[in-house]
Amino acid sequence: MHGQVEMGSMYVDPNAFLDEHLVRDTADALEGLAPATVGHIHLSVGDVDTARKFYVDALGFDQTFAMPGSALFVSAGGYHHHMAMNVWNSRGAGLRAPALGLGLVRIALPTADAVGEAGERLTFAGVALAHDGQTLAFDDPWANRIEPFCGGRTPMSPAGGAGSPRCTPLGDAVVSLEPLSPNHADEMVRVLAEPSLYVFTGDTAPSLEALRQRYVRQSRGVSPAGDEAWLNWIIRDTATRSAVGYVQATLMLREEPWAASVAWLVHPAYQGRGIATRAARLMIDHLTRHGVREFSANIADGHLASDRVAGRLGMTRTEERVDEETVWRA
Ligand SMILES: CC(C)(COP(=O)(O)OP(=O)(O)OC[C@H]1O[C@@H](n2cnc3c(N)ncnc32)[C@H](O)[C@@H]1OP(=O)(O)O)[C@@H](O)C(=O)NCCC(=O)NCCS
Repeated sequence: MHGQVEMGSMYVDPNAFLDEHLVRDTADALEGLAPATVGHIHLSVGDVDTARKFYVDALGFDQTFAMPGSALFVSAGGYHHHMAMNVWNSRGAGLRAPALGLGLVRIALPTADAVGEAGERLTFAGVALAHDGQTLAFDDPWANRIEPFCGGRTPMSPAGGAGSPRCTPLGDAVVSLEPLSPNHADEMVRVLAEPSLYVFTGDTAPSLEALRQRYVRQSRGVSPAGDEAWLNWIIRDTATRSAVGYVQATLMLREEPWAASVAWLVHPAYQGRGIATRAARLMIDHLTRHGVREFSANIADGHLASDRVAGRLGMTRTEERVDEETVWRA
């Protein structure tokens, strides 16, 4: 009802229910099935607003029903609820002390991509986690151990298919990467106005109108021929939220395995703090998690700072030359 689940408590006679629904096929199918998977789980939490920020905003569940200040019901894909968080016996509770009881909540997600995306959202929200490519492990705000894992096979979609990497927010305590949108032109035109940025590349600073048009094109995310994915992020200083530069990747979708050409730029006032290296590392880790296996960067002769960034990212200089620049590869 209005996008929410309608809930109630109704009497069910368990024996009559089994008589009606437990047909021979179901009973046979249940035999030998172990361990069991539960359809949904309720957690005791300290407060519902914090639970919503964590389970909906950060982890990515949809809210299906809320009892304000009392309980929250969430699911994925329209199911009535996969999880619920309530304060019925735990209002104001802090971190759990180690004790007998709930050990671990494992959540089956359909793909490794879904696991990776949940990890990115949680990292962006500042949640400390471990990710081994298949399973995420972290604690919720009450120290309940949660582990989303890839419950199905990892699909490697055909080139250009829905599985190709997308621009999602990335970040850590120092830099935040925001997927590019045309609205970034107003802020970025000031960042890109600095003449020293163009000493090595020979380009010139763009006008506001030219930059807006460039960002409209780039934020479509795919080349007109459909053979390249364009992934662009604005780099923000996490502390001040100022836009300080960008990182970008062009993905050749028709090559197997997927290969990305990457580039970076940081405003001089913010250079020399490791920002380019950190931002490019976040981007490359994201692309690697989504199936990109080869990376390259074209670097102008004598651009020592870019050489260092590429080196820090594990790239090595090759003999290849493109547009009078040297190709680095990893
Ligand atoms: C290249 C660029 C992105 C580096 O940004 P940054 O945030 O300062 O980079 P980082 O701080 O992550 O690291 C830079 C590395 O280069 C070194 N470095 C910085 N300036 C340098 C310079 N002028 N000469 C030599 N090394 C330099 C740093 O010491 C650091 O090395 P380290 O990790 O061994 O200490 C930035 O200088 C820039 O935007 N330049 C202009 C745009 C451009 O030409 N981009 C290249 C497109 S491929």
